[in-house]
Amino acid sequence: MKTRRRFVLWYVLWSLVLSFFSCAAAQEKNAAIASAHPLATAAGHEILKRGGNAFDAAVAVAAALAVVEPYSSGLGGGGFWLLHRAADGHQVMVDARETAPAGITRDLYFDRDGNPIKSATTQGGRAAAIPGAAAALAHIAQRYGRFSLNESLAPAIRYAREGFKVDPRYARVARLRERFLQNGMGTARAFLDGNQAPLPGYVLRQPELAATFELLARGGAGGFYSGRVAQALVAAVNAAGGVWRPADLESYQVIERAPIRFSYRGARITTAALPSAGGVALAQSLGMLERFQLGMTGAADTAHFVIEALRRAFQDRALYLGDSDVVPVPLASLLDKAYAQRRAATIDPAAATKSDALPAERTTRSESGNTTHFSVIDAGGNRVAATLTINLLFGAGIVAGDTGVLLNNEMDDFSLRGDVPDAFRLRGGAANALAPGKRPLSSMTPTFVEDDRGVLVLGAPGGSRIVSQVLLAILEYLRVPQIDLRRLVDMPRYHHQYWPDRVEIEPEGFTPEWRAAIEAKGHAVQTANRKWGNMQVVFKSKQTGIAEAASDPRGADVGWY
Ligand code: GLY
Repeated sequence: MKTRRRFVLWYVLWSLVLSFFSCAAAQEKNAAIASAHPLATAAGHEILKRGGNAFDAAVAVAAALAVVEPYSSGLGGGGFWLLHRAADGHQVMVDARETAPAGITRDLYFDRDGNPIKSATTQGGRAAAIPGAAAALAHIAQRYGRFSLNESLAPAIRYAREGFKVDPRYARVARLRERFLQNGMGTARAFLDGNQAPLPGYVLRQPELAATFELLARGGAGGFYSGRVAQALVAAVNAAGGVWRPADLESYQVIERAPIRFSYRGARITTAALPSAGGVALAQSLGMLERFQLGMTGAADTAHFVIEALRRAFQDRALYLGDSDVVPVPLASLLDKAYAQRRAATIDPAAATKSDALPAERTTRSESGNTTHFSVIDAGGNRVAATLTINLLFGAGIVAGDTGVLLNNEMDDFSLRGDVPDAFRLRGGAANALAPGKRPLSSMTPTFVEDDRGVLVLGAPGGSRIVSQVLLAILEYLRVPQIDLRRLVDMPRYHHQYWPDRVEIEPEGFTPEWRAAIEAKGHAVQTANRKWGNMQVVFKSKQTGIAEAASDPRGADVGWY
């Protein structure tokens, strides 16, 4: 009898061990994460393996990125999270965009002669907007996660406290921004080795950031937006010329918004809503492109149509788009397929339209660049596309007191004046004018694409160039029957944004014949000095349930944005 009981016990234990391993394997096979840093991806997988869902994993990835890729995103920034909950098909965009502080005025950015003050929107206290990232982590964990914030933030806290080995990309970015970090507030201590850019392999520890994450883990959003952390943020920003008040932080809220949804040649596309202009531009561009027979995505004839579509979408961005909670935006008209068709009809297949000569179509109804992206899909089909940012590399150059929090320079995404372009050379109008409490326009474009083959989750950093990256990847995904994620993240990129009126191309991947064909149509072509973007995609097959991931090989290199 004893022997039999021992056998049963042994059998049960062995079955448990086997089922644990097959479960872990199945989870690995049916879930995928793509992010800009292997440690952030590992943080997400750690949470999935422990039984968390895609939303818990996304919280872990975002928090880890704040530690290991601090120049791109973090608690001092914001972003847009596109969520899909498999159980009921609920889709939402969590808008964690930064807001302008209540005390802000336009005059703070101009001198007595009416000239813009150099770097006022990109460096120091006036550059920083009220961050939304911490509120998003708390909101997503609480409303969508299975795990407590404490559990999902654990990997990031570990990385911050124990340190991580600086990778070649961090070392290059820190070298590029060494002077900025040396002159910033608290930035040299936080991000340099002594006063120099660290070399790859240097162990960067951020114990103060770990402590701030712990306050957030214990206290939820209140641990960040009130009390010790909030006081330190206000004091640091104001010491650097800003005008923050404690109430700006206490009143910060993420906003759940309906994402933009549309179809393109049979695929269902879900993407970012305002105040990101990215989803609007994507929907408008694809709406125009539906009118044309497209060939290879990189072919010159196709590129001409893509460039012309982008030109028109970015013109509308400059004219009409802003924070629709504050200004009226004729969104339904802009997203109307009939409007896209009318705009497409102005595209000459043989010749470039000059941006200066492009008449803006008045919509009739009045209705009410550095950054990171990651994509997650779990075994149950929940998914997250999140594009997060502190704006330019290392944001405003302010680490607030002893919080370890690096603040954004998102105020640069407002339009100061029609003739003053932002750091991405975007010009805007009254709709995106700076105002207290308003959220600046963004180009971030976290996106889902669903068709008969499965679901693609994608996005990228890159300021205004985000839109063209996502657009080209979608065109390529839908063009080729076989799924080739590597090709989507790898393919050469071109971009147009209405103004300046020129096509930017990456330095590799375009032949002289391609360039000549584009120029023959009347486009000015400018070769960028380096490649751009860092796209992260995951795909889950409808047929097999298997999920795969791909990260942009450009992640190893880095430009200004
Ligand atoms: N900060 C860049 C963007 O949001 O587009």
